[in-house]
This record gives sequence, C-alpha cells and structure tokens, in this order.
Amino acid sequence: MYSIAQYTDFFIRYLENQIIDKEPKNLYEPINYIMSLGGKRIRPVLTLLTTEIFGTDYKLALQAALAIEVFHNSSLVHDDIIDEDPIRRGKPTVHKKWNTNIAILAGDAMIIQTYQYLQDYEPNLAMALTKAVNKMALKVCEGQTWDVDFETRQDVTVSEYLKMIEYKTGALIATSMKIGAIIAQTSPENCNLIYDFGLNVGLAFQLQDDYLDLFGDTPTFGRRLCGDIISNKKTYLYFKALEIVSESEKQQLIKLYAVRLEDNAKKIETITKLFQKSGVPAATQESIKKYTFVASEILEKINIDEDKKTLLKDFAESLIGRKV
Ligand code: IPE
Ligand code: IPE
Ligand code: MG
Ligand code: MG
Ligand code: MG
Repeated sequence: MYSIAQYTDFFIRYLENQIIDKEPKNLYEPINYIMSLGGKRIRPVLTLLTTEIFGTDYKLALQAALAIEVFHNSSLVHDDIIDEDPIRRGKPTVHKKWNTNIAILAGDAMIIQTYQYLQDYEPNLAMALTKAVNKMALKVCEGQTWDVDFETRQDVTVSEYLKMIEYKTGALIATSMKIGAIIAQTSPENCNLIYDFGLNVGLAFQLQDDYLDLFGDTPTFGRRLCGDIISNKKTYLYFKALEIVSESEKQQLIKLYAVRLEDNAKKIETITKLFQKSGVPAATQESIKKYTFVASEILEKINIDEDKKTLLKDFAESLIGRKV
C-alpha cells in the first residue's frame, strides 16, 4: 500500500496524459479547463485505494478512477449552472467563462467519456462497472432534482433531505469505492460493505460541504459563500436550526427561506446570527462525527488488515476536517 498523497500523485500523473487537443475547441477546451483546475481528487483516490485494499494493483484501476473523476466534474459543470454559481476551485465556472450552452455540452460529453473509459476493460468487467456507474448516475440526477425541488418547498423533512444528499453526493463517493472493489474481484459482500462505508463518508462529506458554504472562507474553499442561503437550499444547517430554535424563530426562518431577493446581505446576516446563536455549527459538526463513526463501524466488518483500515479511517477523518 502507498500513502494517500502517493495515490493522489499517481492519479494526477495519469490524468495529465489525458488532455484532448481536438476540434471543436469550444467543447474540448472547457473539458480540459475543468479537469485541470485541480480539486481534491478524492473519488479517484478512493477507487485506487479500494482496489489495493482488496489485494489488486492500483494500476488496474486508473482508467476507472479517471471515469469517476470525469463523471464528478461533469456533475460540477451542470451543478454550477443549476446553482448559478460563478466560482469553482477559485476560478470562473465553465458557464461563466464560456456560456451556458457550452457548459451543458461539455458536461454531456464528459458523461459520454465516462462510459468510453469504462469500455476499455474486458467485457465482463466493463459490464459490471457500467452497471454500478449507471445506478449511481441516475441517483445523482434524482438527488439533484430533489435538491432543486426543495428550494421552493417549505415542508421538506430531514429524512427527505438525507435521502437527497445520499443520492446527489453519497452515491458517487460510495460507487467510487465499489468499482475499486469490483476491479479487485472481491466478494459481493465486501463490495456492499465498502459501498456502505463510502455512503456514510459521503453523507458526512456533504454535511461538511453545507457547513463550509456558510462558515468556510472563499479563498480556501474556492467557491462563493452563502450560495445555499441565496437560493433557499434546505441544507443540514437549516434542519438543525429548526430543531433547536424557538417557535417564533422557526417561523422567521421558514419565511426567510421562502423568498428570493435581489440584495441578500440582510438575509444572510440574520440567518448566520440565528444559526450561531443557537449552536447550529457545533451541532452540525456533531452529526458529521456521527456519520464518520458509523462508517468506521462498517469498516470493522470487512476482513482486511488493520493498517488498511487505519488508512481508510484517516482519509475519512481528513475529509470531514477539510476547509476546501
Ligand atoms: C464538490 O465536491 C461537490 C460535492 C459533492 C459537495 P468536492 O469537494 O470533492 O470538489 P473538488 O473536486 O474537490 O473540487
Ligand atoms: C453537490 O451539491 C452535488 C453535485 C455536484 C452532484 P452542491 O451544489 O452542494 O455542491 P457545491 O457546493 O456546489 O460544490
Ligand atoms: Mg452547487
Ligand atoms: Mg447543487
Ligand atoms: Mg454545497
């Protein structure tokens, strides 16, 4: 086994050889742009790591890791159109740098590339990987649709929210690991356990993303702050607040999350103060720890060496403590 930093390095070096210099420029330039912008590369690293944990050389998983990272980036390009976000990884989003039509097409082409990369495996393996990726990709679309639907609904429940993030974020992180397990040809039981581990890490990861949207800092986070408040996203912070605050504050919050304004400064200030006053940041961090703990319990059921478990646990911990 190597370290997380080494797996990241292996993947980045592999990725550097994938730049496509082809016409039309307005399709391939935005693809190269978003793929080269950096990002943490956690999903492909999880794929490589999982393959090795189950006893197979990571090199066999590089192409699948590439497929997963391209898919992830396609979802970001489309997500930034949907969320009307101007900044990603500290740089203009594709639809801002080019335009929305170009961003739609670049995202579409990247989804096709995902499947092209998977087709490079021998037919049985390619089929198994495609099945897992298909199942996940549809979930991402379903989750993203709920996320948008919830912007204009005032009666969203916390369990609906949890299902939404399981679909939009958890499924991709879980599947990144599952495809590593499929490549290593481990037992179906191990494939499912590692999926569930990834799913819980993914839930914790999205809660941290919700937290950073309000309490992160832009230069580090590389994204606009408070976008979730501006577009009335019912995030984990909102649900935690509803549990904690007084009845009158609850009504105030529900009202604030039902209006779309030109100038959001006052709305953001009121909501931030209310969250801080009622201990929402700490409560969110508690829940993040809870999901990470559930993940580590699942890991215990997998029959692999302790040092491999430690590597996975440490990686999960580093993800939830992230500022980026
Ligand atoms: C952002 O994912 C989208 C979410 C699911 C929260 P990352 O935080 O992994 O984004 P990059 O790839 O590192 O930029
Ligand atoms: C991420 O949700 C989910 C997908 C991209 C599929 P967010 O909309 O919260 O992600 P960020 O915060 O823009 O990265
Ligand atoms: Mg977004
Ligand atoms: Mg979104
Ligand atoms: Mg977010």
